[in-house]
Amino acid sequence: MSLIAENELQEVPVLDIDPYAMDVLRDPYAFHAALRDTGPVVLIKPHGVYATGRHAEAKAVLADHTRFITGAGIGIQDIRQPGEFRIPSRLLEVDPPDHTQVRAAVTRVLSPVAIRRFKESFTEKAQALVQKLIDLREFDAVEQGVEAFVLDAFPAAVGVRLPRTETLAIGEMRFNQSGPKNALYHAAMARAQPYLEWFEQTVQRDAVLPGSIAEMLFQAEDKGDFDPGVASNIIRSFVGGGTDSTIAGMGFTLHQLALHPDQWAKVHADPTRVKAAFEEGIRHEAPFQVTYRTTVGPTSVSGIRLDGDMKLGVFMGAANRDPRHWERPDEFDIERPQLAGNHLAMGTGAHACIGQMIARGESEAFLGEMARRIKAIELTDTPTYRPINQMRMLDKLPLRVTPA
Ligand code: HEM
Repeated sequence: MSLIAENELQEVPVLDIDPYAMDVLRDPYAFHAALRDTGPVVLIKPHGVYATGRHAEAKAVLADHTRFITGAGIGIQDIRQPGEFRIPSRLLEVDPPDHTQVRAAVTRVLSPVAIRRFKESFTEKAQALVQKLIDLREFDAVEQGVEAFVLDAFPAAVGVRLPRTETLAIGEMRFNQSGPKNALYHAAMARAQPYLEWFEQTVQRDAVLPGSIAEMLFQAEDKGDFDPGVASNIIRSFVGGGTDSTIAGMGFTLHQLALHPDQWAKVHADPTRVKAAFEEGIRHEAPFQVTYRTTVGPTSVSGIRLDGDMKLGVFMGAANRDPRHWERPDEFDIERPQLAGNHLAMGTGAHACIGQMIARGESEAFLGEMARRIKAIELTDTPTYRPINQMRMLDKLPLRVTPA
């Protein structure tokens, strides 16, 4: 995408919309369309950063870690600048070759055998929770459903203790912190303040559970696979990357299935189809709406000239609905062909989600059990969203279920 002569490059088009304005966070789809239609890459005027919302360019930027690095942070702020308080991820916010070595060691810990063992416990926990939900008949499928499931199943596998209030406050801080310093950022920072010390302790060696992924990461550190201190940093990235995202993705999937009874009937008839439903759920609404890269030097994308050392927001939520790539992009369709590996909800390239088998294992267990045991689901009220700078996430999803 950069093989155009220097003198033929175009100036970057400007888009004067703030992606972090409250009304955009609550309903980002008009912004997504403007982002895609203004150009392959645009300058977001209110923040002075580049951005892309087209599938081809988003994929190309994420796949090219030599021209577009994560070492300056995956948020809008440059974490290399003095005074930018945030503990960088030693996996996501480092570039190859350092990233390659850490990633290989973490991949060994997350072997298919290890994941299979955790899947069994996901199934048991799903069976118990779905029975409770059936007994209730009507419930909030966020707090009592997907959130309850993920906060039970995921920390047990990772090997950390994650109580709800503390965990949600830390997640809210993390995903507002990666946006600009707006009111959401300041409010989330203040709310998380009392729990920072607790979180730091939670990811240390003496706090993690035996037989867990966290313990295996410390064992890898003892063998010399990581520098001292990296294992607890990776556990921090797992908790950060794997909790709210999975809650959001499973919530979106249930929401859409509740809106489409014909598609619920299909997953009820064949519960293995919840796999496709989850992929379509996170394509249709991406939990992580945006991630940033930084240009290493002057470069170009699709004929647009880009300056060096600039942040470039890759809006995966927009790319996942780019009509240049998808037919009927706004429709939820569990029979959409070639879904996994094609949508960008899990990223792509060197930093593609390393926990995706865990997220898929959790969703197959919980959504699969719901599909087996429940004949029909319906909304009892309008769902609401939590405005968060980097994420899209349901706040409430009021559901009624009819058991099979
Ligand atoms: C539906 C659930 C999930 C979604 C939508 C998701 C999404 C993503 C995305 C988009 C990236 C790439 C970010 C970038 O390139 O800037 C990523 C990376 C990552 N994810 Fe996930 N994720 C999910 C679940 C999980 C889980 C369960 C874990 C726990 C192990 C996890 C841990 C990570 C880590 C550690 C990385 C960084 C990988 C690297 O830099 O090499 N994620 N995820």
